[in-house]
Amino acid sequence: MTEMLQPKVVLFWVFLAAPSFCHLAITRAQITDPSEVSALKSIKNSLVDPQNKLKNWRSGDPCTSSWTGVICYNSTLSDGYLHVKELQLLGRNLSGTLAPELGQLSYMQILDVMWNSINGSIPKEIGNITSLVLLLLNGNKLSGHLPEELGYLPNLNRIQIDQNQISGPVPKSFAFLNTTKHFHMNNNSLSGQIPHELSRLPNLVHLLLDNNNLSGPLPPELSQMPNLLILQLDNNNFSGSSIPSSYGSITQLLKLSLRNCSLQGSVPDLSRISQLGYLDLSWNQLTGPIPSSKLSNNITTIDLSHNLLNGSIPANFSGLPDLQILSLDHNNLTGSVPSNVWQNIVFTGNRSLYLDFQNNSLTNISSPLNPPASVTIMLYGNPVCANANGLNIVQYCQAQVLQIPGGTSSSKINCPPCPTDKTYEYNPLSPFSCFCAVPLGVGYRLKSPGFTDFRPYYDDFEEYLTSGLKLALYQLEIANFIWEEGPRLRMNLKLFPNNSIFNASEVLQITSMFTGWLIPDSDIFGPYELINFTLGSYESELNPSKSSLKTGAIVGIVLGAVAFAATLSAIVTIIIIRRHSRYQAVSKKRSLSRLAIKIDGVKSFTFEEMAAATSNFSDSTQVGQGGYGKVYRGVLADGIVVAIKRAQQGSLQGSKEFCTEIELLSRLHHRNLVALLGYCDEEDEQMLVYEFMPNGTLRDHLSPRSKEPLNFSMRLRIALGSARGILYLHTEADPPIFHRDIKATNILLDSKFVAKVADFGLSRLAPIPTAEGTTPGHVSTVVKGTPGYLDPEYFLTHKLTDKSDVYSLGVVFLELLTGMQPISHGKNIVREVAMASQSGMTFSVIDKRMGSYPSECVEKFLSLALMCCQDETDARPSMMEVVRELEVIWRLTPEADAGLSESTATEASKTATPTTSSSLEMAAPNHPFVSSDVSGSDLLSGVMPNITPR
Ligand SMILES: *[C@@H]1O[C@H](CO)[C@@H](O)[C@H](O)[C@H]1NC(C)=O
Ligand SMILES: *[C@@H]1O[C@H](CO)[C@@H](O)[C@H](O)[C@H]1NC(C)=O
Ligand SMILES: *[C@@H]1O[C@H](CO)[C@@H](O)[C@H](O)[C@H]1NC(C)=O
Ligand SMILES: *[C@@H]1O[C@H](CO)[C@@H](O)[C@H](O)[C@H]1NC(C)=O
Ligand SMILES: *[C@@H]1O[C@H](CO)[C@@H](O)[C@H](O)[C@H]1NC(C)=O
Repeated sequence: MTEMLQPKVVLFWVFLAAPSFCHLAITRAQITDPSEVSALKSIKNSLVDPQNKLKNWRSGDPCTSSWTGVICYNSTLSDGYLHVKELQLLGRNLSGTLAPELGQLSYMQILDVMWNSINGSIPKEIGNITSLVLLLLNGNKLSGHLPEELGYLPNLNRIQIDQNQISGPVPKSFAFLNTTKHFHMNNNSLSGQIPHELSRLPNLVHLLLDNNNLSGPLPPELSQMPNLLILQLDNNNFSGSSIPSSYGSITQLLKLSLRNCSLQGSVPDLSRISQLGYLDLSWNQLTGPIPSSKLSNNITTIDLSHNLLNGSIPANFSGLPDLQILSLDHNNLTGSVPSNVWQNIVFTGNRSLYLDFQNNSLTNISSPLNPPASVTIMLYGNPVCANANGLNIVQYCQAQVLQIPGGTSSSKINCPPCPTDKTYEYNPLSPFSCFCAVPLGVGYRLKSPGFTDFRPYYDDFEEYLTSGLKLALYQLEIANFIWEEGPRLRMNLKLFPNNSIFNASEVLQITSMFTGWLIPDSDIFGPYELINFTLGSYESELNPSKSSLKTGAIVGIVLGAVAFAATLSAIVTIIIIRRHSRYQAVSKKRSLSRLAIKIDGVKSFTFEEMAAATSNFSDSTQVGQGGYGKVYRGVLADGIVVAIKRAQQGSLQGSKEFCTEIELLSRLHHRNLVALLGYCDEEDEQMLVYEFMPNGTLRDHLSPRSKEPLNFSMRLRIALGSARGILYLHTEADPPIFHRDIKATNILLDSKFVAKVADFGLSRLAPIPTAEGTTPGHVSTVVKGTPGYLDPEYFLTHKLTDKSDVYSLGVVFLELLTGMQPISHGKNIVREVAMASQSGMTFSVIDKRMGSYPSECVEKFLSLALMCCQDETDARPSMMEVVRELEVIWRLTPEADAGLSESTATEASKTATPTTSSSLEMAAPNHPFVSSDVSGSDLLSGVMPNITPR
């Protein structure tokens, strides 16, 4: 036998699509825009990845095989390709440089490479990504200048380049960023003047330019920014400049921080800033008196220390209810120490007030100091301390350094140890005592908070963050918080699930809230920065190299696949004549090494994971049994419910064949197709993992035992969905696939009763053009199929065509119409219905349980079904014609008349015929979730001639 004719056992699983009613066009397998694929490769090449975090960026398609950190739009855009939406590479220990090819990710919205060690300059090509919303480059070693091109990004909301080594000026072009709300450019080496053109920015709320080398006068025009809330310019050198008096008219400002800026002149009148919460003008050379006009009642922090201020301390620092700190240390203030600053403050809980008047020229005390214990007064270095004993102020005259406390959550619980198989911990705040759960850790930092002492805001913060994340209050624990230079408030947060573990989509939801800056801004807490995630047991959810269960890719994936070979060889060996060189190439590649195989889009599970998902394959999780082995309901570590098909011991295929099949399956992607989620191929074990189909098989719902029968429009929708799926296999799969075993038990129903064809164990390659360019009209093969559904012509001639599937689907249509079995008590459904129809008794065979229906629709549907079941192959319609005719019939239904599309009619139909909660029980014992093969003897007994594998 030549290589060409060598028999091969091959199985295919296929998925069925139910595309939306209005679009007949069927999409091809989705792939990423090739120019973006090559851009990603260039990006990887210019990065240095010592920990091999991007190891899965070598093979497969970036979007469909979930390259680490690459998040795509969840469907193709109008050009037919998938596109990169986000690049999320937070804290992956990357160094090297950013490739200019970044600019080719033209649909990207989020570029996040925060907290790595990337050096080199920011590629100007980023300015070409017009869709960019978040540019997050902070926490690297980037140097060079800011490219002017970034100023032309029309959709940019946030630019974070802080904590790098970027030098040169802030480009004037940044004044065009009229959608941008956040400029976070602190802690770099930016120089030159702040362009006064920035005052045109209509939406800027946070301007953080602190810790740079900026110079020149402060532009008075900044006061024109209508939405500016935080102006933070500390540690620059505006030498000789004064604080423009216009800043007193930025009436919406919440925070003004100009510490250590070499500023001269006087302190402007800021009394018109109605909600000013934080004022820091310390470490300058400000002179003159402190204005006596009253500051906002919202003020928490006033730091005017280390200046040259003189005159007395104004009386109106008294009575500010939110004041936490007033620091006037190191000035030349004279007069008396105020004795009633705290008069309007309610001291509860940890509420404290710090008054730092050290190193001034204060000479007396207006009235005896008698503050509450929560008030700290510091008078060291004032003449008044010379008479400390006499004035009874000794305790205030010690030299002190003001230290604002941080904290740790100190909840000590006396509970038995949590299980150790995952990163369980007690949630100290859980309403249940000693409740173990797996927390998600978040390193988090408030970049520019509006207070000095966090403790009084602790509860508000928990409320703010949990409501922003849509979690319950008890789900957040602030494990600790500490003040860092800035001042910034660093915290380690733990987010607890409301039961013991978050599922994958919850983890993704939470992390994307953080990484997408979707938590609304808060006035008092200011902008946050994200330092890291501590994933613990959730590692696999966020690390696609270990899991393909990710973002949009997860959605809509249904599974169907099978472990068969064994089975099948026991039954019939399917012979594939390998005419196709492409197919051969696949086989050869796959045969190189089993370990090298990485199949795109499907996850490889270990035996341990499968065992864990099924309580060690316990009988209680078994939901079906087929010729190939058992079907289990499994719950993966991330909470996803799946159906697991486990090949019988001793009936495994070769690893190579198994992989070839999975590879073929994984290529069949369609929005509504049953897709393979994963597989397990370990010594002595082969398993396939599919999505769990909660509504079981179509056959279950047609059975007389079904308590809540399907109504007519649901049946029509199921027919149309099935036909579309099969049409996809015939016309869009590459190579085309004939299903060969269409039957009511192979049509599964999802939670919305959308039909999905499953179990493609008998599918096989359709004919493909030969080298001579002719297309054989059929493939000669051994006969396989299920009695009652089998194309008579195929049976006689062994010639498989697309019309064989049309015949079988016609039988399913007859079942939908009559509720009958294809063969029962020796009667064949096709013959019975045809006879009734010929004798004008059509409606006597229609299933009474489908309720009322338009008779015109039923007549047309029935005659279509009978057309499909003609003996003569050529007399049957093509699958395309079947789909079209069903669409015509659908338009005649009252649902279509009411404006419902076939896909949106679901809810309406459901109301008409409530879904059955008992469908799972009803479906038992046979395989309610994923259809299984019938055993070989059932299949062939009495029907098949003697068949020998070729
Ligand atoms: C941006 O794209 C345009 C046209 O696509 C190209 O001519 C230009 O060189 C690109 N600019 C950068 C900075 O890559
Ligand atoms: C932003 O600027 C662009 C061009 O400069 C202009 O077309 C657009 O209307 C501006 N948008 C706003 C909100 O000002
Ligand atoms: C300022 O204080 C008022 C009254 O307490 C409060 O309603 C308002 O929310 C505060 N504003 C800010 C920005 O905190
Ligand atoms: C501060 O006040 C002291 C004493 O009044 C005076 O000697 C000193 O020159 C003043 N310093 C400045 C910078 O005004
Ligand atoms: C696709 O994304 C859109 C918007 O991002 C979202 O509304 C929709 O639910 C997503 N669909 C799926 C199937 O994930």
